[in-house]
Amino acid sequence: MCGIIGIIGTREAAPVLVDGLKRLEYRGYDSAGIATLVNSHIEGCRAPGKLANLEAKLLVDPVPGTVGIGHTRWATHGEPTEANAHPHMTEKVAVVHNGIIENFRELRDELIAAGRNFQSDTDTEVVPQLITHLMRQGRTAREAVAEALPRLRGAFALGILVAGDDQIMIGARRGSPLAVGWGDGEMFLASDALALAPYTQRVSYLEDDDWVEVTRDGATVFDGEGNEVERPVIVTQLSGAAIGKGNYRHFMAKEIHEQPEVVGQTLHAYYDALNDRAEFPGLDIDLFEVPKITLVACGTASLAALTAKYWLEGLARVPVEVDVASEFRYRQAPMPKGGMALFVSQSGETADTLAALRYAREQNQYIVTLTNTPTSTMARESDHVLLTRAGPEIGVAATKTFTCQLVVLATLAVAAAEARGTIDRGEAAKKLAALGDLPSAMSEVLKGESAIEEVARSLNEARDVLYLGRGPSYPIALEGALKLKEISYIHAEGYASGEMKHGPIALIDEHVPVIVIAPSDELFDKSVSNLEEVAARKGRIILITDEAGAEAAGGSAEHVITVPQVDPLASPLVTCLPVQLLSYHAAVLRGTDVDQPRNLAKSVTVE
Ligand code: G6P
Repeated sequence: MCGIIGIIGTREAAPVLVDGLKRLEYRGYDSAGIATLVNSHIEGCRAPGKLANLEAKLLVDPVPGTVGIGHTRWATHGEPTEANAHPHMTEKVAVVHNGIIENFRELRDELIAAGRNFQSDTDTEVVPQLITHLMRQGRTAREAVAEALPRLRGAFALGILVAGDDQIMIGARRGSPLAVGWGDGEMFLASDALALAPYTQRVSYLEDDDWVEVTRDGATVFDGEGNEVERPVIVTQLSGAAIGKGNYRHFMAKEIHEQPEVVGQTLHAYYDALNDRAEFPGLDIDLFEVPKITLVACGTASLAALTAKYWLEGLARVPVEVDVASEFRYRQAPMPKGGMALFVSQSGETADTLAALRYAREQNQYIVTLTNTPTSTMARESDHVLLTRAGPEIGVAATKTFTCQLVVLATLAVAAAEARGTIDRGEAAKKLAALGDLPSAMSEVLKGESAIEEVARSLNEARDVLYLGRGPSYPIALEGALKLKEISYIHAEGYASGEMKHGPIALIDEHVPVIVIAPSDELFDKSVSNLEEVAARKGRIILITDEAGAEAAGGSAEHVITVPQVDPLASPLVTCLPVQLLSYHAAVLRGTDVDQPRNLAKSVTVE
């Protein structure tokens, strides 16, 4: 993944680069670095670890210059050391890179044989080395870049500086996103428009195989064939204001608490409350006719997709397939004529999900992306975009974007059910009204945070934690386990309640907390039987249920977390809040880096 930024202008580059990198740190935080041109030679500063380390280093040893590139890294090839930090520099060229150069071994061997000396263990270093090698053979910088790019296999967004020429900065893109920012007498490159928001809202996006020569006054874009091409300048709505934590200790806490509001905002983009109707203007597919909906996503977004399978099948009786993108993209799934493929991605840039989208495009599916990022590559490559209105999510662990995805998918399920005649108008209106009540039900759950924090204490010493759920509560159990392990580093597994006896039951003893998500729905009695099976083996039960459920089954549980009783359709959006808060508080109690957990990144733009 990694984030890249570049500026060519008249002001000092370093402070702008560092500021932009702060907005890109969600893409990785294993190391950071910048390079500038000073009197036509390259100067760099790099530091392992978070951006703060680079900032501290720059305070002692500032890097001047008005042309510069910067990078925040999520390590793929080579440990997160200073030597492996970007920019990678030779005597002639500095490069920042997001992506993976798949044929780097072959290129490296070739360049070493030609006498080049490598300084790092990264795949990236072949890029500056190759360009330098070509320049040494007499190519101009532009010729060297044009000749080098087709030799690279894999995915990349690149920012390139050339010693001796402080009038240009070069960018290139294949697979990984790269935006060109248009300022006033200054120009920018960045992995996303958010990084540039304080400096310009005018951006153009490169397309695959494009490369760009950026000067202080403009940019010239070339396509893969070397033809000069135009890429439209778009005005983004992104605010340049720094995104703060408000009164919260962590972004994750703030984002958890924003959910009633942003879920409401998102819902009302698709729900006309006056007429009690779900509305999806521009969704140009007949939900009555559609033979199959294929949902593909990664991480938490894939669990929103899995929840939607229960809704779309149960309510609308439409066949649904769900898969994680890394599997789907390679398994040659046959897709029916007239089918709809729905990709769920907060960032709209996840490499596997994007590849899956392109596969579905080849299979002639109607492509829909559900995303929080309207300018993303996936949004741009879709027939239709469903937007979540969650606002920027900074915590690496997805929270508010998950519930916003859920509310759009639930509304879509109601629309599909009504279109297919599996529910009538009255029932559809009732379901939508139940979704409309979500903001207040969600606020109610958040008011109980201190009790949930107490329960989180009981997870602190656990080695393993089991999450169980049935039906639409099963994806929430999976999400609970995912959240707990990613931010508190406690091993957790999510299981379908009924499947527990086929394996994880062997783990259960008096030390293992078992978190059972069981609202009082039609599967409740079955869940209670599973809960008793846990109790019989002395498992420590934490039950997440509503008032009726607590009354019926509370006896065997060590802790009961009670959520408001809501329509079964709305229930995952309510039960997932205690699940988020449990992992948040477990992580805080263990003192982990909640917003930037180790080894993870928010946007995964590599395979
Ligand atoms: C990473 C993030 C997760 C996210 C997943 C998918 O793993 O850490 O929070 O769910 O990517 O990201 P996307 O942007 O496609 O929703």
